[in-house]
Amino acid sequence: MSIEWYPGHMAKAKRQVIEAMPIIDVVVEVIDARLPLSSANPMLEKLRGVKPCIKVLNKNDLADPLVTKAWVEYFERQDNVRAIPLEAKHRKEAGQVPQLCRRLAPTRGVPGKTLRVMVIGIPNVGKSTLINTLAGKKMARVGDRPAITTCPQQIDLRNGIHLADTPGLLWPDIRNQNNAYRLAVSGAIGESAMDYHDVALFAADYLLKRYAGRLTNRYKIEELPDNATALIEEIGRRRGCLAAGGVVDRQRAAELLLRELRAGLLGRISLEEPGQDVMEALAAGE
Ligand code: G4P
Repeated sequence: MSIEWYPGHMAKAKRQVIEAMPIIDVVVEVIDARLPLSSANPMLEKLRGVKPCIKVLNKNDLADPLVTKAWVEYFERQDNVRAIPLEAKHRKEAGQVPQLCRRLAPTRGVPGKTLRVMVIGIPNVGKSTLINTLAGKKMARVGDRPAITTCPQQIDLRNGIHLADTPGLLWPDIRNQNNAYRLAVSGAIGESAMDYHDVALFAADYLLKRYAGRLTNRYKIEELPDNATALIEEIGRRRGCLAAGGVVDRQRAAELLLRELRAGLLGRISLEEPGQDVMEALAAGE
């Protein structure tokens, strides 16, 4: 089954980002540290042009630290880009963002020259959480509504920096089904657009290849099966996800695996690594 998911208002949201861009000095792009490319919108590079950009690798608490380190190095090789992993609810960690904005736009943020910042990203990556933490109170909209309300408000961070109070909303590129599956595994895709078992199979296959030890630890399976279907069956058996007649209820087992993975119960896990997109394109014969 393919995943098809387009949050509403997308054309309007893009227009609003384009309209806001001329007055923005620094773009803060929030991406999910577990899947930094799949949770980005490739169009943003074009929309922001040469404006400095901070890539916030959010949900760092859930991502594999070694892989995140590789992603930071990957992004910082790009012109005018700095990358920081953080947990958006964490005030001290979020506080690095304004500091970095000042470094990226040193001529702004002085009397008479406000430094204007906008947070941009796809739904569910933590844009509103970051804005709320920076603002120090609950103000940003939460959810996948379009960017920059009809009456844009700026939050004065009181250090020469003004932050747009609603995030710029873009959408992920899910024409690439590997991206779509990673987004679904992370929980970023609406449940109505995905089949749990299908998505859990994708996750199980990846975990078997990349994080086998975590599966053994969490589900106490000494000899892991060699395929995703059998793994979900085994998890279901061990966790009592059983239907009438004692057969494994695969749907419940799939939901359990995804829920525990998203909650970080298997440990900090990243769903993609730098260079993986190239390997996947080669494998697909592109
Ligand atoms: P958005 O504006 O980009 O759409 O995202 P939003 O801030 O609404 O955050 C989406 C979900 O991600 C929220 O969870 C939020 O709590 C969670 N989140 C944001 N930042 C982090 C982070 O650094 N680490 C972790 N682990 N989670 C983060 P939710 O379950 O949808 O809402 P709630 O129950 O937390 O309110």
